[in-house]
Amino acid sequence: MKPAPQKLPRTFAVKSFGCQMNMYDGDRMAELMLAQGLTPADTADADLIVLNTCHIREKATEKVYSDIGRLRKDARKKHGGDPMIAIAGCVAQAEGAEIVTRANVDIVVGPQAYHNLPELVAKAARGESALDTGMPVETKFGALPSRRRVPPCAFLTVQEGCDKFCTYCVVPYTRGAEVSRGWQQIVDEAKALVDAGARELTLLGQNVNAWSDGPRGLHHLIAELDKISGLARIRYTTSHPNDMTQGLIDAHRDIEKLMPFLHLPVQSGSDRILKAMNRSHSRDSYLRLLERVVAARPDIALSGDFIVGFPGETEADFRDTLSLIDEVGYAQAFSFKYSPRPGTPAAGMDDQIAPEEMDERLQRLQAALNRDQAAFNARTLGRRCSVLIERKGKLPGQMLGKSPWLQSVHLLTDAAIGDLVAVDIARADPNSLSGVQRIPELVS
Ligand code: SAH
Ligand code: SF4
Ligand code: F3S
Repeated sequence: MKPAPQKLPRTFAVKSFGCQMNMYDGDRMAELMLAQGLTPADTADADLIVLNTCHIREKATEKVYSDIGRLRKDARKKHGGDPMIAIAGCVAQAEGAEIVTRANVDIVVGPQAYHNLPELVAKAARGESALDTGMPVETKFGALPSRRRVPPCAFLTVQEGCDKFCTYCVVPYTRGAEVSRGWQQIVDEAKALVDAGARELTLLGQNVNAWSDGPRGLHHLIAELDKISGLARIRYTTSHPNDMTQGLIDAHRDIEKLMPFLHLPVQSGSDRILKAMNRSHSRDSYLRLLERVVAARPDIALSGDFIVGFPGETEADFRDTLSLIDEVGYAQAFSFKYSPRPGTPAAGMDDQIAPEEMDERLQRLQAALNRDQAAFNARTLGRRCSVLIERKGKLPGQMLGKSPWLQSVHLLTDAAIGDLVAVDIARADPNSLSGVQRIPELVS
């Protein structure tokens, strides 16, 4: 820690990396700082910089260290001062005091402890050690201020942590055991978000479909949120195949506000690799599950995550992944090269795959995924759908929004951010759509 006391910061900046839950946490930390009377600033000007970090792959972690150096340099160049730096998020949890040794930062705060940030800032200003990576039993949510600034598409964390222990993954170590937030707390926050301007809520969890409150599962919660007037769309992410209940599948048929989109990571199409990953589902059980999902909601857009080059992955295993992709026809997907993470079982496995092999497989995988995404987009050509306007486009009069299937849609319109408009899809590109508004027909 810095030996000399510093002044209490008056301005702050929060930079988040990684998953959507980190974005949610970053917003909540910003609200905490606002409630403390600090004002937001650019990173180069801020007295306090919070880096809300991701540990999922080595690259993400290394980026934190290069960022710290760069931010200090920028601040010195701009105003000659040294900002107070707080490392939050999953790298903070995983590396703790090591970060202080390696990068001489002022504050380290884990993802379950960030409600203590004001106290940690005060400690750091006094020149005291300010490290909190505790995972308290009572959740941080009760200690956070209410939401103030809300965009039309807002995130709402309903579940955190993971008990699945996939052999490649750090999340169970950085986010702790699976915990569900309580029913009433979620419903209250959802209503507050809608009152503050949200039209779409995405329910977040590392295993969001494992959410439960006694006998009630995620589909019961979605049915309750469906009753909130002013809320137009509900989404949830990320789901695990083993927690996909029939009730949740049926919700895609029965609840109109629940959007036809499902992100259901599979990671590999090879049973041998799935077993080594400790995924606890097989290729076949995953495919049969998707059949039930599609039966309930035929137009659903399917999304997934893939890892190439897991230790021991042969060309035959990789081809099993390609053939699974062919069978499913994903509307979009994320794909990654396997990255060994310290402390995970897979990092110590024999037969790590050479980087060139991984590069080559990733290219082939992404070519297949891009082909399917383009084909999915092409199938929406000529369809009429709702678009929720999220921001201005680059051209005059152009706005950008999302289709029910989570595609970006460009359109010329007078509609404002947060409006839902009926659009005919007139052009389908591989990464986005363009549409024509049905005037004056507004949809809800
Ligand atoms: N809870 C979610 C998401 C976890 S992290 C789930 O289980 O699906 C998001 C994605 O990062 C994972 O789905 C996986 O594809 C990828 N990932 C996780 N650990 C990784 C690693 N060590 N190397 C490469 N990709 C990884
Ligand atoms: Fe990681 Fe697996 Fe848990 Fe997803 S289910 S967060 S990949 S351990
Ligand atoms: Fe990264 Fe932590 Fe999310 S490791 S993906 S920020 S849960």
